[in-house]
Amino acid sequence: MAQPQQLLPNLTFLDLFPPAADTAREVAASLSAPRPTLDPKYFYDERGSELFDAITRTPEYYPTRTEAALLRDNAAAMAAELGPDLVIVEPGAGGCDKVRILLDRWHPSGYMPLEISRECLLDATHRLAPRYPDVHFNAVCADYSQALAFPGDDQGRARLVFFPGSTIGNFEPAARERFLTGLRGLAGDNGYLLIGADLQKDPILLNAAYNDSAGHTAAFNLNALQHLNERLQCGFEIDAFDHQAFYNEDLCRVEMHLRCHRAQTLNVAGQRIELAAGTRIHTENSYKFTVESFSRDLLTAGFAPVSSWVDDDNLFSIHLARAA
Ligand code: AVI
Repeated sequence: MAQPQQLLPNLTFLDLFPPAADTAREVAASLSAPRPTLDPKYFYDERGSELFDAITRTPEYYPTRTEAALLRDNAAAMAAELGPDLVIVEPGAGGCDKVRILLDRWHPSGYMPLEISRECLLDATHRLAPRYPDVHFNAVCADYSQALAFPGDDQGRARLVFFPGSTIGNFEPAARERFLTGLRGLAGDNGYLLIGADLQKDPILLNAAYNDSAGHTAAFNLNALQHLNERLQCGFEIDAFDHQAFYNEDLCRVEMHLRCHRAQTLNVAGQRIELAAGTRIHTENSYKFTVESFSRDLLTAGFAPVSSWVDDDNLFSIHLARAA
């Protein structure tokens, strides 16, 4: 079992990165399925995290700036609902950007980011920890979608699980229910959840948000193949793939695919996988919600909704819920 390392006076680091053999088996199985898929977590190596950051700054991708404004405008109202002396736990923290809005305004005792990209996590926490010397940073490198039982040494302090960005929309409905239930366990019986959920809207806006004119989303999608070539030597011929993204109105989700226009043979975990020309690899779904549908999801997972906030253009919602 990995042991936490003390990296700075207020920063510990625990490395639970999944072994390569598990990853190779999982990728081989999903690529050789009748409808090949890749888990969206493979977008996020160092380059993928940079590309995601670039997406969030495009004019077309409204979720990040809309959510950040909602957090800034309502942080005080949120704090009024919470007790003092919180530990913020953030699964999939990425570059730990949005949490700064809360660290600046709430002064919590602790912050535990869980992130699969080790480089991104170490870089972000080395930058942030010295700026918040009174906050104990407990960084964990892990695939948070698999294991949510992270040990806490929170000394009785309430946990607030922070899951912004509508990343919850990247889970399939059954997995979403399981994951939200996992977040309820992570929050503990006296804990809270603060979570962002992107809203259903005009498909023109959604299609533009996932097909930005600078091409960052296309590069982000294709980078999953580059990442897997580097990590598992899969042999993807990346120039033979095109980015596709569109809103599926029936299923209320944006779908992202990589379409292969030249036949090729991959080698993953010792298994040969043939991709015919025209094969589409489904790389991501991004479900869109209504405030009511998402509040029902929270109730099902064992949370009691406390408040929700929506911007004036009805683009995005943030929900604060308490463990029920
Ligand atoms: C991380 N997640 C919420 C983003 C989304 O909008 O589903 C990932 C993304 N995919 C393409 N652009 C952004």
